[in-house]
Amino acid sequence: SAPAAGSASLDPPTFDPLVFNPYDYSFHDDPYPTYRRLREEAPLYYNPDLDFWALSRHADVVAAFRDNIRLSSANGVSLDPAAYGPNAHKVMSFLAMDDPRHMRMRRLVSKGFTPRRVADLEDRILELTLRYLEPALSAGEFDWIAEVAGKLPMDVISELLGVPEADRAEIRRLADLVVHREEGVLDVPVAAMEASLHLVGYYADMLAERRRKEASDLTSALLAAEIDGDRLTDDEIIGFMFLMVVAGNETTTKLLGNALYWGAHNKDEVAQVLSTPDRAPDWVEETLRYDTSSQIVARTAVEDITLYDSTIRAGDKVLLLIGSANRDSEVFDAADDFRIGRDSSQKIASFGGGVHFCLGAHLARLEANIALEQFARRVADYEIDEENCVRVHSTNVRGFAALPVKVTARH
Ligand code: HEM
Repeated sequence: SAPAAGSASLDPPTFDPLVFNPYDYSFHDDPYPTYRRLREEAPLYYNPDLDFWALSRHADVVAAFRDNIRLSSANGVSLDPAAYGPNAHKVMSFLAMDDPRHMRMRRLVSKGFTPRRVADLEDRILELTLRYLEPALSAGEFDWIAEVAGKLPMDVISELLGVPEADRAEIRRLADLVVHREEGVLDVPVAAMEASLHLVGYYADMLAERRRKEASDLTSALLAAEIDGDRLTDDEIIGFMFLMVVAGNETTTKLLGNALYWGAHNKDEVAQVLSTPDRAPDWVEETLRYDTSSQIVARTAVEDITLYDSTIRAGDKVLLLIGSANRDSEVFDAADDFRIGRDSSQKIASFGGGVHFCLGAHLARLEANIALEQFARRVADYEIDEENCVRVHSTNVRGFAALPVKVTARH
């Protein structure tokens, strides 16, 4: 019974400690309540067990992305130790470098991987999209990840690099293994390491071939890239090819999955796109904000940084919580509502910021815009089989490994 007014309660006080553990499966189910508490109660949070700091407010995350002088990427940008086998440092390429090394390599790569080259790919992306989308839609019920979202991004990367059609399914299989995780296991599975070595070997052979005979693809363009006599080495080119697989494949697959998932949960919003398919970019943009596929990147402090009365020591790990920044009500109205047409593309933290700003952002957007526009052109309505959606568990990647959908075709 309730204690009389004025008397002390014998019940223990309700105390709900704020714990942010990015490995926790229940955190993955819905990270947003934790992010909210972090922003409100501990904008600079320290986890003593896992020994990391975390920034959760939009302004702090954006500032941290821009502070590449005090916050280094050179120890890797993932909470987990650098993965992918013996060549980890090399294969993470300039994502995990600081300036001036980073800048030199990014500028050389940008000579080949130009916005123009991506824009020129539009027709091919459309063809590749329809190749997977049309049979899936005529089946009526299908797994969006297995049939469409899980195939398109890697095929587009292969198209760019000039991987022959006949090899693409195998390249996809290897690329999926590279980021494969085992439930509850933090170590990189042997299969992932082996797949990484295979993929690197394949790309090395391709590069040797292009040295003998030039083609019009990105691989040849990277070989030709030159600034004041400086060129990329073979290892650097292979490192970038591999970086595209690590940074641009699963992230885009998960973006496509999250779009369908949250669309199904916000029917009134998505109805606007299903009735006006050329508004698909608004659907993509809001998915990027509301539930982005790359939630967390890490940095290492290179000097002491004092913030909110605490001091991050040189050598400490700092997590930038992108998913939280995107839900900050200081920046986004009704931040927890999924609203298509917000015009927030300049504010979202989804592609990072500063010198490491995602080099593939325009490609990811182009691909997702095309895929969702084509989906909307052909679909009057759709449902998700919620029970059979399978979420991946990762400290960074957010999205689904399986997403069964049932569509009603447009007549
Ligand atoms: C960097 C997100 C797609 C290539 C980044 C970063 C983020 C990000 C947050 C910054 C990492 C950091 O600062 O440490 C995403 C998301 C994508 C996506 C959410 C899809 C929805 C792609 C694609 C490609 C790509 C399709 C290329 C094929 C890169 C590269 C970097 C990068 C090369 C490193 C840039 C640098 O270090 O200078 N991406 N990305 N990304 N991304 Fe993306």
